[in-house]
Amino acid sequence: MVGSCLMGICLSSRIKAESPFNTGTSSKYVSTEGNDLSSVSSKVSSGSISRSEGEILQSPNVTSFSLSDLKMATRNFRPDSVLGEGGFGSVFKGWIDENSFTAAKPGTGVVIAVKKLNQEGLQGHREWLAEVNFLGQLSHPHLVKLIGYCLEDEHRILVYEFMPRGSLENHLFRRGSYFQPLSWCLRMKVALGAAKGLAFLHSAEIKVIYRDFKTSNILLDSSYNAKLSDFGLAKDGPSGDKSHVSTRIMGTYGYAAPEYLATGHLTAKSDVYSFGVVLLEMLSGRRAIDKNRPSGEHNLVEWAKPYLANKRKVLRLIDNRLEGQYLLDVAYKVATLASRCISIESKFRPRMDEVVTTLEQLQDSKETVNPQQRVLRPRRRSADDARTGRTTTAYPRPSASIYA
Ligand SMILES: Nc1ncnc2c1ncn2[C@@H]1O[C@H](COP(=O)(O)OP(=O)(O)OP(=O)(O)O)[C@@H](O)[C@H]1O
Ligand SMILES: [Mg+2]
Repeated sequence: MVGSCLMGICLSSRIKAESPFNTGTSSKYVSTEGNDLSSVSSKVSSGSISRSEGEILQSPNVTSFSLSDLKMATRNFRPDSVLGEGGFGSVFKGWIDENSFTAAKPGTGVVIAVKKLNQEGLQGHREWLAEVNFLGQLSHPHLVKLIGYCLEDEHRILVYEFMPRGSLENHLFRRGSYFQPLSWCLRMKVALGAAKGLAFLHSAEIKVIYRDFKTSNILLDSSYNAKLSDFGLAKDGPSGDKSHVSTRIMGTYGYAAPEYLATGHLTAKSDVYSFGVVLLEMLSGRRAIDKNRPSGEHNLVEWAKPYLANKRKVLRLIDNRLEGQYLLDVAYKVATLASRCISIESKFRPRMDEVVTTLEQLQDSKETVNPQQRVLRPRRRSADDARTGRTTTAYPRPSASIYA
């Protein structure tokens, strides 16, 4: 097992123990302070009610699969059916019968995504269980559906609805004929869908903090409806008159709110910050952290801030692949929204329901405007044009050291 040991407990390679200041590209991190692993038990809380592992796994909303079922459904976890790899393990495509939920012939029945945990240890188990706990109870058009799980010997597997268009990360940053640049309208549709998912989690009835909002956890169905996946780090929000939950600092570099990194105090506004970072990624076509860019441009938030100041400058921030597709007024409003979400002081960040309202208004307004008003050449060269001297920009997936 590739992993690191922290206070005597082995952690998976997904969450690497390192200083928050050692910002590896898209690395997950965990602080070495305020460790709360001591509180790990077989109870996971949700909706302020602690449920035992047995209760979580017996939820009527999720099916328990046998390992042999899932082996058949994925044709023995065939390498050519891999949909993607994360720090947790690989995700495979499979098929099950829609009524019996037993393995079906490829191409028949229901398509599923099977995430196979490739590591042992308490940490991996806790995240696996948190996923079953949260997604087993929560149901919403903008959350991915968890169909079931498998817990057999050391095997821990999660079975989800298949999301045909994969992750937003692939659509924004992967090159290749399959992944055409996402249009402005689709980016706005995805932003609104993901915002609705977060707003639902933050609502008074649910009160869950997601804690790992990023482009790879936003999955897309065939119509580009966004659904949030990966609740392994999700936490119940503060109860009573508490203002925050205290946690170990975990998440992904580039997306975490500054006060959370500094104190470990988690609030719904930490998710709002991460949403702002993702909105900036969608506007700019740049990754939250990209070590392949010139120094001074590694961190998207730091790089983008000066361009968010006024309408004229915003133009230079926007992905040049979007040329001709957006109105400057609308783009400026989206940039202003992103800017508010990444406010250093959390009280200046909007709530997610306000974000949803703003994005909805922007989507409605675009239809009523003359297409001739859209931003077209000639225009000022974007910051990327100036740097590369090209009109198209390469978007390599950075080497993901945590997956080594
Ligand atoms: N339900 C699904 N349907 C289709 N593809 C999926 C599904 N779930 C995951 N994938 C694909 O598998 C990839 C890996 O997912 P996974 O959640 O394991 O890792 P990640 O989100 O990329 O990274 P991390 O481990 O940091 O969360 C995703 O980026 C996506 O492309
Ligand atoms: Mg993920």
